[in-house]
Amino acid sequence: MMKIISFVQFQMKIKFLHIPIICIKITIVYFVLFIALSSCSETGTENSTKISDKLFEVPLGFPNVNFPDDNPYNPVKAELGRRLFYERRLSKDNLLPSCSHCMKQSNAFADCSPVSLGYGGDPETRNTMSLANVAYRKSLFWDGRGKRIEQPAYRSLFLPYILNGDTNEIEQKLKADPIYPELFRKAFGENAEPKAYLIAKAIATFVRTLISGNSAYDKYIRGNKTAMTQSQIRGMKLFFSEKTNCSKCHIGFLFTDEKFHNTAVVTHYFDRGRYYITNNFQDLGKFITPTLRNVEVNPPYMHNGELNTLEEVIEHYNRGGRLFINKDTLIRALNLTYQEKVDLINFLKALTDWEFINNPKFGKPSNMK
Ligand code: HEC
Repeated sequence: MMKIISFVQFQMKIKFLHIPIICIKITIVYFVLFIALSSCSETGTENSTKISDKLFEVPLGFPNVNFPDDNPYNPVKAELGRRLFYERRLSKDNLLPSCSHCMKQSNAFADCSPVSLGYGGDPETRNTMSLANVAYRKSLFWDGRGKRIEQPAYRSLFLPYILNGDTNEIEQKLKADPIYPELFRKAFGENAEPKAYLIAKAIATFVRTLISGNSAYDKYIRGNKTAMTQSQIRGMKLFFSEKTNCSKCHIGFLFTDEKFHNTAVVTHYFDRGRYYITNNFQDLGKFITPTLRNVEVNPPYMHNGELNTLEEVIEHYNRGGRLFINKDTLIRALNLTYQEKVDLINFLKALTDWEFINNPKFGKPSNMK
């Protein structure tokens, strides 16, 4: 991409000097170089990041998405990943609609039950976190144990309480399909065929495209002063104020500091949270600050789904949480008035991105069963 940009700049300079013949010569040299460089790439489309630079757009004010070097973006791979995200044949006996069973677009790619129920109705241990904007996250899951989306995408295929599939069987099913083999070749190169690790890569690519940044709040901060109601504007000021301290943890464009805190939702942390990863007593009952984008559409709340509504969440913060040894010092009684509570809740609702939730681009492909 750098090469293409410098080429364009170079051409402009040449044009300015009115030397069209040199310009044509340079064009030919660059063209030959460009072709040579492209054909050096090891796995064809797999490495063609130039496609991503052109076709992958992020909302205004959002940073670029960094796709990993060993799994770069290309549009066919993302489309394949989308198909697999909704594919029943990844689960044992084709029982569950793959990832979309627990990550529903209508809930901003989370779930509306306290804990998701996987294969055979087996419960997960924690509330499902939204996949929206997960491409930007440094660590995954409530305790931060995950680093790469490819890992859970791969493990979910065969974990008994998730899809309970058999990777060999899955590969065979997809090989026999009229559509998948060609999609794998287009996404990963001529010799590629349906393989479990490529399934995970494709799904991870699709998941990284789930970018949500067009809520009423986004429109408001981009200059549309009527995008939020007066109550939402008051709630926003309260949210970012010292009175509530909400934005000390829910900070930045994703509304998270990506750190681990104890907010004393319960008095007994049977789930030890971050402690499982560090074995440090200071981390007992600490969980990563979740994003608040689209929070309205994925109740219940907190790592265990303890709180059912946004009203309950605000009451929890207003009372300063419960008693717990590791409670963060920022969690203390707030003495909010009724109107302030309403305003805060309305502000949280201004973070819902309905365009994202209703975007057919992220839904189940129309030609799938
Ligand atoms: C000390 C850091 C901190 C502060 C201050 C804080 N939060 Fe949180 N917030 C968290 C953490 C951590 C969680 C998850 C806790 C858990 O699951 O046990 C959370 C969870 C939430 C949730 C539930 C999200 C979900 O998807 O389950 C909402 C809503 C929320 N906070 C809003 C607020 C508001 C509003 C304020 C200010 C009144 C606030 N937070 C102040 C760290 C903080």
